[in-house]
Amino acid sequence: MTMSAKLMVGNWKMHGSLSANAALVADVLAVMGQVQCRSALCVPSVYLGQMQSLLSCSPIALGAQDVSSHASGAYTGEVSADMLRDFAVRYCIVGHSERRQYHSETDIVVAIKAQRALAVGITPIVCVGESLAEREAGQTELVVKRQLAAVIQANGHCISEIVVAYEPVWAIGTGLTASPQQAQQVHAVLRAQLRAATAHADRVAILYGGSMNAANAQDLLAQPDVDGGLIGGASLKAVDFLSMLKAASR
Ligand code: PGA
Repeated sequence: MTMSAKLMVGNWKMHGSLSANAALVADVLAVMGQVQCRSALCVPSVYLGQMQSLLSCSPIALGAQDVSSHASGAYTGEVSADMLRDFAVRYCIVGHSERRQYHSETDIVVAIKAQRALAVGITPIVCVGESLAEREAGQTELVVKRQLAAVIQANGHCISEIVVAYEPVWAIGTGLTASPQQAQQVHAVLRAQLRAATAHADRVAILYGGSMNAANAQDLLAQPDVDGGLIGGASLKAVDFLSMLKAASR
């Protein structure tokens, strides 16, 4: 269990437009005064410039959804950690299951991406999580530990500077949420793994993600090792996102 305020991160995925982003951010910022938790929005990279100016002087930090595993060079379409830093990006999701699944990102590639982010002072939000088949085969712990181990191995003592997000693949965008007990069980496993790697494991926020919404956020956030949330669909609606930020402020 960490002692700091909960961290609630919106993951917009491939949604948004200049006008929709401005409207959503205006609605959220209008009531941020009532929110005490930490928060961030991970937006498509083409909107980082827009979001940097919309969020400057606001309590919401700017985040990206991916970073290249390369520093620079002939990698058409890629965005480097240095480029993200140019836009004052504070957080970067790495190893989201959609990247692992649709872009064949391996544990090693994810670990290198975390390294790239850390090297420029950006906090990587490292996603881990099992598929439905893996859960049914009783492999949940094995899978998440393997995924996190690669990141620990590549990042040494810097590991206390990351954020971890446990996102069971079967819960993402499906409306199926892990029960608070299921989430806590995996979070405790991840915490123990971090403790074995660093004396500062309690500093690492472990977020839950996967169909977190305004109705279930509070129970999930009440678990001792659930330090916040990574929110997809529900972060696109100002009312829902705000009610989750408020649930995390209690
Ligand atoms: P969801 O997505 O909240 O829409 O399930 C979470 C995520 O993929 O980060």
